[in-house]
Amino acid sequence: MDRIICKNYDEVSLLGAAMVAKVVKSNPRAVLGLATGSTPVGMYKRLVEMHKRDGLDFSMIRTFNLDEYYPIKKANDQSYDYFMRDNLFSHINIKQENIHLPNGECADPAAECAAYEAMLNQAGGVDIQVLGIGVNGHIGFNEPAEELQLPTHLTGLTASTIEANARFFESIEQVPTQALTMGMGTIMKARSILLLITGENKAPVVKKLFDRVVTTEVPASFLTLHPDVTVLLDEAAASLL
Ligand code: F6R
Repeated sequence: MDRIICKNYDEVSLLGAAMVAKVVKSNPRAVLGLATGSTPVGMYKRLVEMHKRDGLDFSMIRTFNLDEYYPIKKANDQSYDYFMRDNLFSHINIKQENIHLPNGECADPAAECAAYEAMLNQAGGVDIQVLGIGVNGHIGFNEPAEELQLPTHLTGLTASTIEANARFFESIEQVPTQALTMGMGTIMKARSILLLITGENKAPVVKKLFDRVVTTEVPASFLTLHPDVTVLLDEAAASLL
């Protein structure tokens, strides 16, 4: 894993956007794996700027998001579908039919997960997967557990994740307790991975990530086995290294 320590959140966002833009420019039909959460918001802002100011072209780009709450309506302003439209898709020239997120409105989660995985494979797999990390070491919604699932699947959220995500909802009771998520195998198949980590509250999990062990208790630790991972950190997140 390459690690780059940036001064602050803005630098992480700028460098992250530059890395994604490089993939978009070198392959106009690239498949981007995308994440939600607060960490990549600044990077998406920079990508929107690059589109508006420099004409960065998304017209043939395809995207597959990591996860979505389940069940949730797309119109709910806390759905990841809404988040992606609000932060990125509505501001760039991406085609609607090239945007993919697990469907939080589906009736049959198992069938939805299998179809999502098949669609991703048919698109040729992910060229660059953007990831954030949970304070408990989760990536996507692959939560610490004795066993980690390989393909896209329906999963329960841990108490720690529900608590961490409550800040986006009116009350903790409104946080969905399940999600559809790419599995560890889906994520590890990406050709390259860009992991963004910012803020002091992530410093303890960053220390575990660079502990030179893999453990299902820190799902992100498996990224150390991937041949092409860049971790962009701010100084606060790197403060315990
Ligand atoms: C989001 C996702 C999650 C977040 C993680 C960090 O699509 O899959 O794994 O990346 O929970 O969230 P933030 O960035 O809000 O700290």
